[in-house]
Amino acid sequence: MSDKTITIEILRYNPETDDKPTFGTFTIPYVEAWSMLDALEHIKDELDSSLAYRWSCRMAVCGSCGMVINGTPKLGCETFLRDYYPNPIRVEPLANFPIEKDLVIDSEDFIKKLESVKPYIINAMEKPVEEGVNKQTPQQLGLYKQFSMCINCMLCYSACPQMGLNPLFTGPAVIALGHRYNLDSRDDGYEQRTEVIQGKNGVWSCTFVGYCSEVCPKNVDPAAAINQNKLQGSQDWALSFLMPRKGDK
Ligand code: SF4
Ligand code: FES
Repeated sequence: MSDKTITIEILRYNPETDDKPTFGTFTIPYVEAWSMLDALEHIKDELDSSLAYRWSCRMAVCGSCGMVINGTPKLGCETFLRDYYPNPIRVEPLANFPIEKDLVIDSEDFIKKLESVKPYIINAMEKPVEEGVNKQTPQQLGLYKQFSMCINCMLCYSACPQMGLNPLFTGPAVIALGHRYNLDSRDDGYEQRTEVIQGKNGVWSCTFVGYCSEVCPKNVDPAAAINQNKLQGSQDWALSFLMPRKGDK
């Protein structure tokens, strides 16, 4: 290990014992190959075992290591010390979520929002088994594939200024997920998702800053999903004047 060092400032907070969050400063060896996750692991193993943070896959797949690094929401496992050295690095938990402890946020509200868009295939009619599997062409897959790449890392929620103003906003990743199923040729659940996606806290709460798509590590482009739903909602509204309503003769 080289003699070089780097300074990491980490927001520390335990709501059960602390009045307010404060920054803890750690000086650690600078290793070019280390990710922020490696740095946190070194701090926990060698300097302060009480440090709390989440991680699992270490390969930008599980979505659990989201954090704010020098002001930008990022995955700890794919952010490297070499991109900041020799300057200090400041690490904070994702914004717009309650802090459970240090870098660990409470994602319960996000999970409830995920469930609200019914993120599964809804069939209007059960198909007899003997009719075989539902086939899909590459073109049909291509319509929604991008929106199915989300790893639920919540970076887009941390980046979204609207989430800070209106915590009830359904938010970028959840709208993108509902959109993914609405675009799936095997799905008939569009009407069932409309109340959430087009409702008071759905797409119309978005002011289209677009930062959600900028920070997304998987190029899901949730801002595009929101815009496509705004367009669809406007078309539905216009069509409602031309189509007979239920009960009309
Ligand atoms: S849309 Fe992108 S930034 Fe948002 S949760 Fe999914 S992967 Fe993360
Ligand atoms: S540890 Fe799984 S995405 Fe970073």
